[in-house]
Amino acid sequence: MEQTLTVNYEGVPAYNIMLEPDFSKLSEAVVNLDMKNRKMMIITDSNVGTYYCDAVRTSLSRIAKVVECITIPSGEGSKNLDSVSLCYEHLIKSGFDRNDLLIALGGGVVGDLTGFVAATYLRGIRFIQVPTSLLAMVDSSIGGKTGVDFKAYKNMVGAFHQPKLVYMNLSTLLSLPEPEYYSGMGEIIKHGLIKDKAYYEWLKEKTKEIEARSFEALREMVYRSCVIKKEVVERDPKEQGERALLNFGHTIGHSVEKLKELSLLHGQCVCIGMAAASFLSYQRGLLTDQEYQDILNTMQLFHQPVSVDGLSAEDIYEVTKSDKKMDSDQIRFILLNKVGQAFIDPTVQKSEMLCAIQSILNEV
Ligand code: GLY
Repeated sequence: MEQTLTVNYEGVPAYNIMLEPDFSKLSEAVVNLDMKNRKMMIITDSNVGTYYCDAVRTSLSRIAKVVECITIPSGEGSKNLDSVSLCYEHLIKSGFDRNDLLIALGGGVVGDLTGFVAATYLRGIRFIQVPTSLLAMVDSSIGGKTGVDFKAYKNMVGAFHQPKLVYMNLSTLLSLPEPEYYSGMGEIIKHGLIKDKAYYEWLKEKTKEIEARSFEALREMVYRSCVIKKEVVERDPKEQGERALLNFGHTIGHSVEKLKELSLLHGQCVCIGMAAASFLSYQRGLLTDQEYQDILNTMQLFHQPVSVDGLSAEDIYEVTKSDKKMDSDQIRFILLNKVGQAFIDPTVQKSEMLCAIQSILNEV
């Protein structure tokens, strides 16, 4: 299996995704971007930085003029304009100019934040993604969506800004805590459900290897998910159409995430949202009862929740209305035509939504 994928942007090769077992090829890959003797700023978080900042700094020091590091507290709570402001201050004080480079070392929060700083500092400088979580590898590091949360609104402020490289050291997955690891499985199951039934079946077959984090299983899984993500963002980089399919499970998932005040991980909320969207697809006669149950079982196989406590259907519905996936007043809901094929449906009515939400609420 190949180790490198090239992502095209507007028909032109734009950046590589490298799947590697360590950081040994990182400096060479950065030199190949015509990035020698530049200032480099690693932006990371307090967890990931402890593990990997030294290794990345050492590797880049061989080729950079200077390598500095900004560490933000780990967690979604750091994905805000205060962190953006902190990064600007640091970059200004250290005299970073438009030819210098930012390195996002971490999970989705660090990647989205660093990308947004890169998109806006001096009207845009270059950045690379070095994702260390499963979710960031298969989803957020690819496709150039950057941004931060604003108050309680997820990803409400942002920009499209493509990275120059996505460098994955797959070994970082071995130190990922179990909840984060399995949360990444939410997006991976999503890829199978919306685009590739054979991949969805493969995930079920490989449960043991995926649980054991066998290197070959990880490599194949990350690779197959990256291919799906890459092909979608190449065809629709700015989410004018097909890219919205990647939001399967996210409309209700984001509401649950917000109402639970981030006590559940993103991937867990996506699974709860996918359970509701699959129920709606089943109600419409697009999935059989067996297929619907199989989707729930598969998410549970990977330790993901498919229901939630302590929320009301009306509250969840109201929050979906403030979501970015609205088109005027109508939600563009993602449903499954069948396993492996999703579509955008702008006709979902409030009563159907409430019914789907009811299906994911635990009885109290
Ligand atoms: N995470 C969904 C997207 O990149 O469009």
